[in-house]
Amino acid sequence: MVRAYYYKEDDEPMTNLHDSGENVSIQELENIGIFYKSINSLENVDKIAIDRNYKNRDYITLDSKTFPGGEESLNNKLNIFFTEHLHEDEEIRYIIDGNGFFDVRNNNDKWIRILVEKNDLLILPAGIYHRFTLTNNKFVKALRLFKDEPKWIALNRIDGNTESNKYRKEYISSIIQG
Ligand code: LAC
Ligand code: NI
Repeated sequence: MVRAYYYKEDDEPMTNLHDSGENVSIQELENIGIFYKSINSLENVDKIAIDRNYKNRDYITLDSKTFPGGEESLNNKLNIFFTEHLHEDEEIRYIIDGNGFFDVRNNNDKWIRILVEKNDLLILPAGIYHRFTLTNNKFVKALRLFKDEPKWIALNRIDGNTESNKYRKEYISSIIQG
């Protein structure tokens, strides 16, 4: 099962644990619109894809040993993924192998770190602020699911106009205020 906890801010590399020791429950994740499920086979992922009407998919591998351009190039990619952003659609990831960290903002704007590993399906709602990095193993293989055509656009919070985004506003009004 996935573990989630409040992120400890310090100067360590993003791929370190940053474990505050304060755990976050699945219920707390649900309260901010996150869906999590451990699924033991691709067939069962397919069932969810059909139920939820996800029509498209692709696979992504991030591996320091095979990444084009080597580890430095992978690190550049990770720095982009670690820039706080939102999307106008759900972000759906099923981890096939390896592991990684999704950091999500809770309703008090605190970072929650979610460790995802093999068999974890994680769905982030449209409009939630988040970022991603690998663990120090520097390896993950994931299935990305999409409702329709893949939407890659990341709207970075630092750009300053995300709060007025329609999907952000819809997200804010959908979550339980705590
Ligand atoms: C993405 C992850 C990095 O948008 O959040 O693909
Ligand atoms: Ni994203």
